[in-house]
Amino acid sequence: MCGIVGYAGNNEAVPVLLDGLSKLEYRGYDSAGVCISGKDGIVVKKSKGRLSSLAEKIKSEGGTEGKVGIGHTRWATHGAPSDINSHPHRYGKVTVVHNGIIENYAELRSSLTKLGEKFSSETDTEVVAHLINKYYIDDPISAIACACGRIKGSYALGIIFDDIPDKIYATRCDSPLIVGIGDGENYIASDIPAILGRTRNYYLIEEGEIAEISKDGIRVCNFDGIPVTKEVQTAEWDIEAAEKGGYEHFMLKEIHEQPKTIKATVDPRMINSVEGILKDEIIDTSSIKRIKIVACGSAMHAGLLGKNAIERLARIPVDVYIASEFRYCNPIFEEGSIVIIISQSGETADSLSSLRLAKKKGIPTYAIVNVVGSSIAREADHVIYTWAGPEIAVATTKAYTAQVAVLYLLALRLANDKRTINKDEAVSIFNAFSSLPDHIEKTFSYTERMQKLASLNSNINNLFFIGRGQDYSLCHEGSLKLKEISYIHSEAYAAGELKHGTISLITDGVPVIAVITEKDVAEKTISNIKEVKTRGAFVILIADRNCVDEKNVSDICDELILLDSTAPLLMPIICAVLLQLYAYYTAVYRGCDVDKPRNLAKSVTVE
Ligand code: M6R
Repeated sequence: MCGIVGYAGNNEAVPVLLDGLSKLEYRGYDSAGVCISGKDGIVVKKSKGRLSSLAEKIKSEGGTEGKVGIGHTRWATHGAPSDINSHPHRYGKVTVVHNGIIENYAELRSSLTKLGEKFSSETDTEVVAHLINKYYIDDPISAIACACGRIKGSYALGIIFDDIPDKIYATRCDSPLIVGIGDGENYIASDIPAILGRTRNYYLIEEGEIAEISKDGIRVCNFDGIPVTKEVQTAEWDIEAAEKGGYEHFMLKEIHEQPKTIKATVDPRMINSVEGILKDEIIDTSSIKRIKIVACGSAMHAGLLGKNAIERLARIPVDVYIASEFRYCNPIFEEGSIVIIISQSGETADSLSSLRLAKKKGIPTYAIVNVVGSSIAREADHVIYTWAGPEIAVATTKAYTAQVAVLYLLALRLANDKRTINKDEAVSIFNAFSSLPDHIEKTFSYTERMQKLASLNSNINNLFFIGRGQDYSLCHEGSLKLKEISYIHSEAYAAGELKHGTISLITDGVPVIAVITEKDVAEKTISNIKEVKTRGAFVILIADRNCVDEKNVSDICDELILLDSTAPLLMPIICAVLLQLYAYYTAVYRGCDVDKPRNLAKSVTVE
């Protein structure tokens, strides 16, 4: 949540900062601001609303010439979105932008107030400017270190001192921060896309480090001022990956990238045989007796599908936890447990804390992560990367399916190692992975159908997704996708559970999306469809054509989509793409801001 950028170079800072912020807007977009150090001294411009409002303000007011600056795009935590609460925050000689939460800000604020200091905003961040200023005489490193010593919480900070106009300073704790290395110009940023148009080379700033950035160089030291030698990282993502590439929205582009991202994630792990799956990431599976999957949102939903697959194929018990619950539930770790954290960003605060909790208990940790070098990737004992590339739309699509694919590979490897499936079944699933990108590609031929369905249902208030087993797990994701971008209330229900209460909500015309990809339970779900149909539901059935008899099901649903079969295990990935398209077009018909849904941010780096 919140994105920060900084620039020191030979060019005007404002366009560079605005461009960088535009790439970070997915992290928060309720207000934005910049601080420029230039010919008019230190100038702060900030504005409630989208980045475009800030750009307008700068254009109309001027006064922002300068080649050094910091910028911020906000997701409000403390204090409503307003001009005054927007970052940067300035006090005395110090101006800061901040991503994170200062947990003890109230206490700090009250003690600073007692010393006579006046606060102008309701934010937690403002205390940081006050604190650094309090400790600053002429040594910025020691002032930052002293201030950080008093702060509890998470932060990535960009800082400018009035009397050091050619430099920016940066530090972090539990919030991401990189320093971009350019030619005669250098940068800070919360995430790689912000600098990708200008450089691929960067340093990862670790906790307890402070970076001093000018156009001529970057110096990194610890809180005692002792220099730290950093290793240059190189971003593999190409710039196009972080652009819309002709699509109306990032989400649509990312949906369409899935054949490619699944291939990129699966192929390198499928080089020889089932035995070789994930062998670079997981050496020995023999000690794994129990798995706890911990994640948030869609990543947790991927975990639910992982549980279905691992339990079915490998017969290893799997518990799936919401990270914000796991970290406070005093979990019981049975012997032979491992913890798998799933996270696209690798920065989600609750997931990161859950990882740390498991590590503290001495439990082996695995992370399924999309962002290379992110905190979760760095701290886990073992990392399995999803190679989905940068995901910009707040609603995840390609990262989710890549996470599911990785979990399925893991299930197959575990099952093979434990001999819980026979060779033929293992080989047949193994082979099916290679045609998965083609199956996904084929779902795009349903685009018009999904558009039509979305337009039919775009005025509804409620919708239900029903399924059994893996289809129920998938329904959770279908429902979240629809809710978060179209603002239609929806629920995922185990098809057999409806009649225990929720069926009372089914009245004439209430849409129900049913999913059937498992033959064993197909007839059961069909009975449940009949139950809602007789109560007036508008039923859309998405099914594997192998699981149902078209003649029998056409009468019990209003819309029928029959997908070509592949290994049943893989069908949820294919169906997920259809549900993503449905959510996308529904949001478009309702005029919603698809890529930046209200109140949300892509990367939830606060509790
Ligand atoms: O970066 P992470 O995968 O850890 O994020 C977890 C959730 O915040 C995320 O999946 C969220 O639910 C998505 N926006 C849903 O589309």
